[in-house]
Amino acid sequence: MGGGIAQVLAVSGRRVSLHDAAPGAVEHGLETMRGSLAKLAAKGGPDPDEVLARVEPVDGLVAADLLIEAVVEDRAVKEDIFRRADALLPAEAILASNTSSIPITSLAAVTSRPDRVIGMHFFNPVPVLKLVEVIRGLDTSDETARTIAALAEDLGKTPAEVRDLPGFVSNRILMPFINEAAYALLEGVAEAEAIDTIARLGFAHPLGPLALADLIGLDTCVAIMEVLHHGLGDPKYAPCPLLRQYVHAGRLGRKSGRGFYTY
Ligand code: CAA
Repeated sequence: MGGGIAQVLAVSGRRVSLHDAAPGAVEHGLETMRGSLAKLAAKGGPDPDEVLARVEPVDGLVAADLLIEAVVEDRAVKEDIFRRADALLPAEAILASNTSSIPITSLAAVTSRPDRVIGMHFFNPVPVLKLVEVIRGLDTSDETARTIAALAEDLGKTPAEVRDLPGFVSNRILMPFINEAAYALLEGVAEAEAIDTIARLGFAHPLGPLALADLIGLDTCVAIMEVLHHGLGDPKYAPCPLLRQYVHAGRLGRKSGRGFYTY
């Protein structure tokens, strides 16, 4: 998602520094951007080379007006980044997270600027989907929330502001839907294709819940469900055993070539 976020920022004319600690990840992100920009250029979008010229791969955190963190859904990893960014970025910079579920308030708490920490949650594929869920931590200022909502609009997105409670709104709704689909499969109510056909044709969803889980990543789905389960304390949010089993097997969805489906 980091690549998609960098892409929409660069398309809007902003300069972006792109960093990933995993070797090869930035190159992979740039390749994905090139493919996406080519599709958009065919429909009258900007020149891909001009857009990519505004994206600079960097070796680590750099000083900037805005940080958008989009790393793995692991609170300790994110907190480490927020701690280091707080020490490096100018005092007036905003620190945002693309997290799907980690509390913004806990990321803000490791910084000296909790008023300038916020959730800026994009949706996959970022260049296509129009929503940005703007999550206000306990101490996020009105000015920070206004700045991020205005930025989302400038990127051609629609912001929706929510409070910092487990799963926010998007995943509080989406994850129980995916989890129930996994239970329907586990209990043999229907095959995966039938479950997804019902959601696609019966509810006009572009993807069924199992195909969508494969797109999000089954490991990410389980991590988000754990946050909902622990944060809200209700057993109804516990991940379906089949999801856990697939993750243990390395069947993580599209990114590993196999999840509920084979790619
Ligand atoms: N970049 C640019 N354009 C793209 C693109 C990309 N990455 N991906 C697709 N497109 C374009 C295609 O070129 C195509 O354009 P035309 O209509 O002009 O031909 C259009 O989007 C539709 O694409 P496709 O025809 O290939 O396939 P599709 O109709 O199935 O659409 C999709 C693809 C947009 C991904 C659609 O399936 C969809 O919306 N799926 C649901 C995605 C979703 O629910 N995402 C949310 C995940 S949850 C999340 O991200 C956050 C979280 O916290 C877990």
